[in-house]
Amino acid sequence: MTQKLTAVKVADGVYWVGAIDWEIRNFHGYLTSRGTTYNAFLIMAEKVTLIDAVKGPFFEELMARISSVIDPSKIDYIVSNHSEMDHSGCLPEVAAAVRPEKIFASQQGLKALGEHFHEGLDVVGVQDGQVLDLGNDKLSFFETRMCHWPDSMVSYLHGPEVLFSQDAFGMHLASAERFDDELDDRPMARELAKYYANILMPLAAPIKKALAKLTGSGLAFKLICPDHGPIWRSHFPRVLELYQRWAGSFRTRKAVVVYDTMWQSTRKMAEAIRDGLSSGGAKAVVMPLDSSHRSDVATEVLEAGALLVGSPTINNQMFPTVADVMCYLQGLRPAGLIGAAFGSYGWSGESTKLLSAALDAMKVEQVAEPVRVKYIPTAEDMEACRELGATVARRLAQAYPDRA
Ligand code: FEO
Repeated sequence: MTQKLTAVKVADGVYWVGAIDWEIRNFHGYLTSRGTTYNAFLIMAEKVTLIDAVKGPFFEELMARISSVIDPSKIDYIVSNHSEMDHSGCLPEVAAAVRPEKIFASQQGLKALGEHFHEGLDVVGVQDGQVLDLGNDKLSFFETRMCHWPDSMVSYLHGPEVLFSQDAFGMHLASAERFDDELDDRPMARELAKYYANILMPLAAPIKKALAKLTGSGLAFKLICPDHGPIWRSHFPRVLELYQRWAGSFRTRKAVVVYDTMWQSTRKMAEAIRDGLSSGGAKAVVMPLDSSHRSDVATEVLEAGALLVGSPTINNQMFPTVADVMCYLQGLRPAGLIGAAFGSYGWSGESTKLLSAALDAMKVEQVAEPVRVKYIPTAEDMEACRELGATVARRLAQAYPDRA
């Protein structure tokens, strides 16, 4: 039997009409272990309005869900809150099928959609704070630049007090359920943090600005409808608190130890460093890079106080898996970390120097010179690694005495 794709009512006159992507595991380099959703919403006001579209291959799913509520040709307006292709990929096909009276986007969205689809879409740019009359309700637009792209804006429907927040407050989590209070808390908390770490971490300043704009607006938010994952109807105050904490670079006495190894020497060093960290009262998270994904490393770094990175030297370079993570983390710009480099070598041993330079580029304060070992670590080398871990633990205890 063919699956029946229907809309889900989320508030009076508001329906979820998005798509569920159970299969995706690589979202531009981010491991989406639990899949994702591309959320779109239909407002059944006098002026029928579609908020956002979905990724290109999910066009039919979007149209089927809309059709379960209304003939899609009855849609008057389309609002594009964010032009990244997971939300606008099928916008030209939707516009061709619906023939809306108008498509709205921010001023930057007008530009971005033009640069994606060239002459294919007729878009009206709206101003920050502009109100769109839907006849029996009103939709307000608020620019939220760089949350996640320059074009990003959010839309607020006054009657049922619903915020359509595009990427903000979202997560990559495919589920049959649509609301936060229908899902288990732990995987949801993990995916919320993973999304923030991998998508929003470098954008702390614009996020603080956007949060201040929303919380200072005087508006009530009964329902928060992001473009990915569950709709918040019960836990939003906690989510807001977490966003404020992450945008403020909240750190704890946790140290992330990432490494790869050729002949187990760098692994032994990582274990000795872990021993020093644990003995000193720090929480140690050890992540061997042959089995840890860069996006999971970023998630652990989100609230960590320290980052220790180890690599053997291979052909005068650091190990490729380590280079991958350092490049990725540098782009995410975690602020306020302390750390150190370590590694083993057989011939020339450039890896620790390269790692130290990479940590400098990330503005990680290095608490000690790199620990560098030739071939196999001796008992003294292992003690030096333990001492490095202990030094980091002491620094974390001084910086965050109440945040074990
Ligand atoms: Fe979900 Fe920035 O797109």
